Amino acid sequence: MNNLGRNDLCWCGSKKKYKKCHNSIDEMINSYQLQGYVVPGRELIKTDEQIFGIRESGKINTTILDYVAEYIKPGISTEDINELIYYITRKLNAIPAQLGYEGFPKSVCTSINNQVCHGIPSKDVILHEGDIVNVDVSTIYNGYYSDSSRMFCIGRVDKEKTKLIEVVKECVKLGLEEVRPGGLLGNMGYAIHKHAIKNGYSVVRDIGGHGIGLEFHEDPWISYVSEKNTGMLMVPGLVFTIEPMINMGTDEVFLDKANNWTIYTADGKPSAQIEVMVLVTSNGYEILAN
Ligand code: MF3
Ligand code: CO
Repeated sequence: MNNLGRNDLCWCGSKKKYKKCHNSIDEMINSYQLQGYVVPGRELIKTDEQIFGIRESGKINTTILDYVAEYIKPGISTEDINELIYYITRKLNAIPAQLGYEGFPKSVCTSINNQVCHGIPSKDVILHEGDIVNVDVSTIYNGYYSDSSRMFCIGRVDKEKTKLIEVVKECVKLGLEEVRPGGLLGNMGYAIHKHAIKNGYSVVRDIGGHGIGLEFHEDPWISYVSEKNTGMLMVPGLVFTIEPMINMGTDEVFLDKANNWTIYTADGKPSAQIEVMVLVTSNGYEILAN
């Protein structure tokens, strides 16, 4: 993997000796790789400087969601949310990562009820009492990317949808409990899937999470329907999203051919999603955006 001696300076640019820096992590990676596990390449392991930058971006992403949360109530349009996101992002000297991304026309995804993800804000889409909406925000700050999303209830929401949102929050929490160096991403996804099906729900298979930081979407692609003892090995410096989409009914979804973005549940039943951006640390995890 490399010819570094234990007393050479580490490859990560920390100016520390290799043996005091990434040596033991590299040994863990090598041993997992020999056993046939998927392991992260060096380009996915962020340096301290990169982590600092991604953390700053993540703080802004979280601040943006805090800001917009105050305005989300019955009667506003999803375009109002889009304008608020654009305004606050620019005010914080950041760039909405979604705007123009692969042609996406707005600064935020707003996905209501049976929309699974990638809902496009519109002045014609008004939030009504009883709706649930996912607001998914992604930010570029100083060249570093961040991504997180939350669910919002519009006025009073029925028991079924309220429970769906509670369960998706629990799913993310259980997923986070599997995040640690030496853990496997498949175990994280397994924990999420198990909790969702225990509650009678399903987890969307076709869309997943991703590495993030230096780019919007990096490797690995992450499933939340996975088997134990599979998936990429987690090591300190790996940054990725946990963002399961939990459906009240079938896990089948379809793409809106009219805009080529928005995903809907096949049976028209509600879907909910929470997204956090997480860093694997030396002894567990740090949430970088939520
Ligand atoms: N946060 C969403 C994701 O990671 C953003 C989708 S890209 C967009 O999948 F262009 F639709 F915004
Ligand atoms: Co994402």
